[in-house]
Amino acid sequence: MTRMHAEARTGRRTLLLAGALAGLAAACRGSQSGADTAPTADRFVTDLRIPPLAASTIDSDGARRFALALRDDGRSSFLPGTTTPTWGVNGDYLGPTVRVRVGERVRMAVASRLAERTTLHWHGMLLPARMDGGPHQPIEPGATWLPQWTVRQPAATLWYHPHAHGSTAMHVYRGLAGLLVVDDPNGPELPGRYGIDDIPLILQDRRFDPDGRFAEADVDDGTYGLLGDTILINGTVRPRLRLRDRTVRLRLLNAANARVFHPGFADGRPFQVVGTDAGLLDRPVTTTRVRMSPGERVEIVVSLAARERVVLDSRGPDHASDPERGHFPLLQLEVRPDAADPVALPDRLAVGSPQPYRAGPLRRFRLDALEINGRRGDPARIDEVVVAGAHETWEISNGRYAHSLHIHGAHFRLLDATGADAGLKDTVFVPPGATLRLAVRFGTDIDPATPYMYHCHLLRHEDGGMSGQFVVVAPGTENEVPRSLRGHHH
Ligand code: C2O
Ligand code: CU
Ligand code: CU
Repeated sequence: MTRMHAEARTGRRTLLLAGALAGLAAACRGSQSGADTAPTADRFVTDLRIPPLAASTIDSDGARRFALALRDDGRSSFLPGTTTPTWGVNGDYLGPTVRVRVGERVRMAVASRLAERTTLHWHGMLLPARMDGGPHQPIEPGATWLPQWTVRQPAATLWYHPHAHGSTAMHVYRGLAGLLVVDDPNGPELPGRYGIDDIPLILQDRRFDPDGRFAEADVDDGTYGLLGDTILINGTVRPRLRLRDRTVRLRLLNAANARVFHPGFADGRPFQVVGTDAGLLDRPVTTTRVRMSPGERVEIVVSLAARERVVLDSRGPDHASDPERGHFPLLQLEVRPDAADPVALPDRLAVGSPQPYRAGPLRRFRLDALEINGRRGDPARIDEVVVAGAHETWEISNGRYAHSLHIHGAHFRLLDATGADAGLKDTVFVPPGATLRLAVRFGTDIDPATPYMYHCHLLRHEDGGMSGQFVVVAPGTENEVPRSLRGHHH
């Protein structure tokens, strides 16, 4: 279905066509009225769905235990009058928000009720490779996977999603994904009441068939895979959210297969970035728009006036490569007349002494079409060997297509970056032609036989083999590591 059909069918054609033409101009004027031809109130009619918090129990040794069930029998209603078959975790679509604490032991029971092999990966978590949930930890239909680890990293907004070789794009597209929040009881004072003034926003794009099903034809096809014309936030189309506080924290996750979002407010008002993928910033950074490629997270805080209504939208450049283009309203925030007074943010956000991220030995990675350094990923090949806890500089240089580079089992900062761009990361947008330098700090869990991945997080590219693998080894053993996993059992 073309974009125009979808718009006509939902009665928003004039609005979105005008929006497409006026998008960039309106963004420059900072005007909310530029693209609007209908009263704002008529456009956001569905209350934002807030993913439930995952229930947990405490084992006798103090470990926190969660049970997640992957299902393929969900029924969701996104568009009026239609039902969409969906996949979900402990529910019909997406999964519950899992919250763990710094220092805590975590045990997961991941049960698959799917009819095909999958995995569940903890994106952004530093943990042993065997617990990572990448392609080397398959969960067969009917099986339950029991990973466990100790949380040894700063507070951050992480997420979980399947990572099976060749089927990640489809499993995520159908609905398997959820938030994984690391809390630090000793962290700074930030809005933190889940669903009240601390709001998860899982951004995705979808295309619908006329009967209401998710269109799947292009998910694994074309340059970037499917770029949808309908935006879902936590599985809600055109949501609104009523606030009882004037200061709100939004935890944004780009869980789209390929689309790059540029969240900001339609009226151009400033907000503060407080966190990126893997942790809080040292200090809040004021800005008016952020860019998020698939896999990336940003935490922002904004203060609003009582009775105010403001639209969070995404305005990409009009002339950019495909995944960046377009203007999409995301969410309308409505502040109640009796809302609580705004609260000021602390000056410093990072707790303790800042984690060192420094340049180190250089590795170069050239992204070109679906290849990294001239080859496609091979699950049986070890591309790189890294020493536990190492600091390295990874230089990523790109060809002519946009990519989003993600590294498992490590966090990094962008060298040469300032402000929010210098925050802790595990995923980074790599524009066409760009060269980025990352100061990478690897985890300390040693396992020469089980690789972690690095790959493009545009899921059609990931499934197409745009990936590599590394193992983390003890110092001095780098040259003893077998580079092939063939014939090994894992
Ligand atoms: Cu979000 Cu390798 O994945
Ligand atoms: Cu990951
Ligand atoms: Cu890519």
